[in-house]
Amino acid sequence: MDKLVSLCKRRGFIFQSSEIYGGTGSVWDYGPLGVELKKNIKDRWWNAMVRSRDDIEGLDAAILMHPRTWEASGHVAGFVDPLVDCKTCKGRFRADKLEDARCPQKPSKQPGQHDACQLTEARNFNLMFKTYMGALEESASIVYLRPETAQGIFVNFLNVQQSMRQKVPFGIAQIGKAFRNEITPGNFIFRTREFEQMEMQFFVEPGTDMEWFEQWKQLRMEWHLALGLSPERLKFHQHGAGELAHYARAAFDVTFDFGGTLGFQEIEGVHNRGDFDLTQHQQYSSKKLEYYDQLNNKRYVPYVIETSVGADRVTLAALVNAYREESVEGEDEGRVVLGLHRSIAPIKAAIFPLTKKDGQPEMAKNIMNDLRMAFPMDYDESGSIGKRYRRQDEVGTPFCITVDGQSTTDQTVTVRDRDTLAQDRVDVSQLKGYLAAKLVG
Ligand code: GAP
Repeated sequence: MDKLVSLCKRRGFIFQSSEIYGGTGSVWDYGPLGVELKKNIKDRWWNAMVRSRDDIEGLDAAILMHPRTWEASGHVAGFVDPLVDCKTCKGRFRADKLEDARCPQKPSKQPGQHDACQLTEARNFNLMFKTYMGALEESASIVYLRPETAQGIFVNFLNVQQSMRQKVPFGIAQIGKAFRNEITPGNFIFRTREFEQMEMQFFVEPGTDMEWFEQWKQLRMEWHLALGLSPERLKFHQHGAGELAHYARAAFDVTFDFGGTLGFQEIEGVHNRGDFDLTQHQQYSSKKLEYYDQLNNKRYVPYVIETSVGADRVTLAALVNAYREESVEGEDEGRVVLGLHRSIAPIKAAIFPLTKKDGQPEMAKNIMNDLRMAFPMDYDESGSIGKRYRRQDEVGTPFCITVDGQSTTDQTVTVRDRDTLAQDRVDVSQLKGYLAAKLVG
């Protein structure tokens, strides 16, 4: 992880938030390459969920919602972690995760060793960030930064269903920021206080819910595999009775092996939420949230199958999965490669003139200008060709195009593949089609 964090900073993927002021705890900024990588992941999710299906609609609900929303959802009363403080070491721990926590005065000790600690009684700490709406800072104007995007979908269930004339079963999908005042954030962008979720609620007729639950479980695992995450690093974790959230009738996590001390961790939750949310919102808003099934002339509150995945956590999984160090035949120095799936690589192709003369830079720039609206491109003319290849390998660029002495006479270039290192000689007029064919999928 340390090597990855350093690469992410050095090469413009991810920076500590407000770094010049000493940083903000567990909040991160995405740099030029990071923002492209995360956007590509979000686009893949949006395409799979919304663009390629007739039965899922998109939504972008506001972050600030009516405070009653969070009473209805159970977050005001129940979105809490039990917290203990130590009077000796001044550490602050989650009471239910003491065995994972290290005593700050004895960092060399194993996690869970708190023999010298004097712990206070556990008290509940609500994870929602509070703020005030309007000019008065009083309890009547408290609003919360949403801790999940899902509630924006539930309160818009009828708006979307009626405006888009959807019939159950159908879904609503959205991507957006969520905020949690986590007690134990950390592990880079794995657990942060500000993050992005990609959530989809699928509304189904009661009785058909477990069938849909199974289908969504499989579809979501296939999505992670298609993103290039290694099959051996992915597995399901089923929630036992004691682990289930208050709203869930059944739940599976998609977990990914982050390696090191983190090991397998949740990247996505697939939940059968039953009619918990719509029923709660009906009760708290006094508005009916029923579906009228015209064909069978019956009314009911649909059940909900939810798929909820963190955009930042999947970005971290994609980076961990992609990072490799390898030796190169015939070369003394090895190389660091981000073997990202081509569809999510931030730069698709880099172009280099072999020398800075003989019209090569001009030709390379012309080719780049021709391609840049189709693919994110990079131009590099500094240093040896080997160094330029290494720089692109390290940020996961799938193709490097070189303009050489032959290019200016016969209008061909070499295209080098990041993973196989194979080089093809390609006619400039064919270049766009050549790259497009290799980048699909
Ligand atoms: N609506 C259901 C829900 O929010 P969750 O299991 O609390 O369920 C879903 O969160 C996903 O959101 C997680 O699998 C994870 O990928 C992401 N996530 C949750 N808390 C996070 C945090 N503090 N930092 C980064 N990602 C987080």
